[in-house]
Amino acid sequence: MALLEVKDLRTWFPVKVGLFRSKTYYVKAVDGVSFTIDCGETLAVVGESGCGKTTLGRTVLRLIKPTSGRIIFDGVDITDLPEKKLKWFRRRAQIIFQDPYSSLSPVHPIRYILEEPLIVHGIGDKRERLERVCKVLEKVKLTPPEDFLGKYPHMLSGGQRQRVAIARALILEPEFIVADEPVSMLDASVRVEILMLLRELQERENIAFLYITHDMATAKYFAHRVAVMYAGKIVELGPFLDVVKNPQHPYTCALMEAIPDPDPRNRFSERKVIPGEPPSLINPPPGCRFHPRCPYANDRCKREEPPVVEIAPSHYVKCWLYVKR
Ligand SMILES: Nc1ncnc2c1ncn2[C@@H]1O[C@H](COP(=O)(O)OP(=O)(O)OP(=O)(O)O)[C@@H](O)[C@H]1O
Ligand SMILES: [Mg+2]
Repeated sequence: MALLEVKDLRTWFPVKVGLFRSKTYYVKAVDGVSFTIDCGETLAVVGESGCGKTTLGRTVLRLIKPTSGRIIFDGVDITDLPEKKLKWFRRRAQIIFQDPYSSLSPVHPIRYILEEPLIVHGIGDKRERLERVCKVLEKVKLTPPEDFLGKYPHMLSGGQRQRVAIARALILEPEFIVADEPVSMLDASVRVEILMLLRELQERENIAFLYITHDMATAKYFAHRVAVMYAGKIVELGPFLDVVKNPQHPYTCALMEAIPDPDPRNRFSERKVIPGEPPSLINPPPGCRFHPRCPYANDRCKREEPPVVEIAPSHYVKCWLYVKR
């Protein structure tokens, strides 16, 4: 059984416009997304800015209420559970944010930042909590822990702060972590270090990750599978190496910056994605959302939404090109 199962998830944000705000539009940030994540597995969600990655990550953690669809965690449907019935889930699922400068409270020392979740969940006495804080600092390689307990976030480098944010996500010993672009604000020199740390933690603690990134290259450090997102929908999903070495959706090919390939067997070798912006999420085009930029689009792509096709074991593509007529 999967640890997390997401079925046809939609998160639409209402936006009121017009005179007296009389008209309501919906920003369809996540619009019919399904996937599973197993225990100890990392699924990377890759896509350009604004395609709905953060909304997806926050929705599966129930930090945003979905508009429709189901979220099932460890066999329990958490989609509609009220907050007071989510305490067990809040302990078992955590988030690491993109910006280590704004995600840590500036007025508290590291010791308190890490101890607070334990206090909230009523875990341990003072001494036991301190032990756990020191242990988690060691796990994220902020050693010796005593050197960091009394420090404030502003006294640390960006990489060290992100290690504290990771430690805070780990302190309750979760089984699932959403990591939302955890290295995109860091210097290139520390990015790989943090990614290696996440991978090490995953292997040692058997934590499942939803790793959100706009950069496929950073996913290679620890993603088992990858989901490519475009304008609120997953267009391709499969084992990481399959998707990277053999991208199938025209958008994934563009993401991979498919260099013109002399091999005629590669059907995507000659045609380039049409330059332009992703569609509006308020009024997305009918049919396939990628069709206005797709060099292979035909009439059906403009009219009807493509189905999801399994083109190889566990490798799925949402594209009419793979549907036999
Ligand atoms: N609270 C909100 N109210 C209205 N619209 C929102 C809200 N949050 C996000 N959006 C919109 O939803 C869409 C998806 O946003 P989201 O932040 O999920 O994208 P993203 O893929 O994480 O982008 P980025 O790579 O820039 O972080 C965007 O058009 C955004 O403007
Ligand atoms: Mg985001």
